[in-house]
Order: sequence, then structure tokens, then C-alpha cells
Amino acid sequence: MKAIIVHSTSSKEMSLKIAKNYEGEMYRIEHLKPVYKSRFAQLFFYGFQTVTNKSVKIKPMDIDLSKYDEVYLVSPVWAGRINAYMKAFLKQYQIKNKKVHIIASCEGGYKNYFITFRAFLDPSNEIVEEAVYVNNELVK
Ligand SMILES: Cc1cc2nc3c(=O)[nH]c(=O)nc-3n(C[C@H](O)[C@H](O)[C@H](O)COP(=O)(O)O)c2cc1C
Repeated sequence: MKAIIVHSTSSKEMSLKIAKNYEGEMYRIEHLKPVYKSRFAQLFFYGFQTVTNKSVKIKPMDIDLSKYDEVYLVSPVWAGRINAYMKAFLKQYQIKNKKVHIIASCEGGYKNYFITFRAFLDPSNEIVEEAVYVNNELVK
């Protein structure tokens, strides 16, 4: 069984659109606090949270990971790296012994994305895919 775990915050909901291309049971990572609507505020506050490694709060998720052998982690690249909310999810919900797909949504700046992401995954997982969508188009 496959779980698709998605985090998406911009008004275009790029990651959510990408996540819908994959088959599986979908779960959305949601912020505990209201999401900033403007792009400027998102860049400023969420960029700050991500760069300073600030721990952020997400809403509790009703997910039983033991049901799944394959997990898709779909989320936007922030400041070139794994974003603060996907990081919060990975810290709170133990993903172990799974086949993992890391799927990035971005505008082209993703150089350190997979390195920073892998650091938050347990070594028991097998990373079977690292894919990048730039403005909704699969490039890698
Ligand atoms: C705080 C912040 C930082 C971002 N940093 C990057 C970046 O480093 N590289 C990049 O290509 N896009 C960056 N973006 C753009 C988003 O990754 C991109 O628009 C993504 O597709 C948005 O996905 P979403 O609609 O699911 O939120 C950033 C956006 C925000 C809000």
C-alpha cells in the first residue's frame, strides 16, 4: 500500500497538484497556525523558519504508517532545502523500513534539497526515487 504525504502552501498548490498524479492514500501536512497568504509573507516568515531550523507545529495527523510499504513525500523546496513543515512531519512520524519517494516542487533552485532531506530519513528506508518538478513540470 502507498501513502502520499503532501505539504503545499502557495496559492497555486503546486505540490498538491503533483501529489494527485500519484496513486495511494493521501495525507496533507497542515500548519497549526493559519497559513500566510501573500507570497512575500511566505518567503519572509517560512524562509526564516526553514533557514534558522526553527521547530514549527503541524496539526496532528491520523495516519497509521504501518499500513504502508511505500511512501511518497511531496513538498515545496524552501531556501534550497527541505522545508520546516516536512521536517516537522518527519521528526514526529517515524518512517522506517519503507520504500521512499522524495518529490520536490520548486522554481528551479533545488541543489541541496535531497541531501538535506535524506538527513531526516531513517537509514532503514530505501530511497527509490528523487524527483523534481519545476513549475509543475517533471525535470529530474
Ligand atoms: C519560503 C520559500 C522559499 C522558497 N525557496 C525556493 C528555493 O530555494 N528554490 C526554488 O526553486 N523555489 C523556492 N520557493 C518556491 C516554491 O518552492 C515553489 O513555488 C513551489 O512550487 C511551491 O509549492 P506549493 O505550491 O506546493 O507551496 C520558495 C518558496 C517559499 C515560500
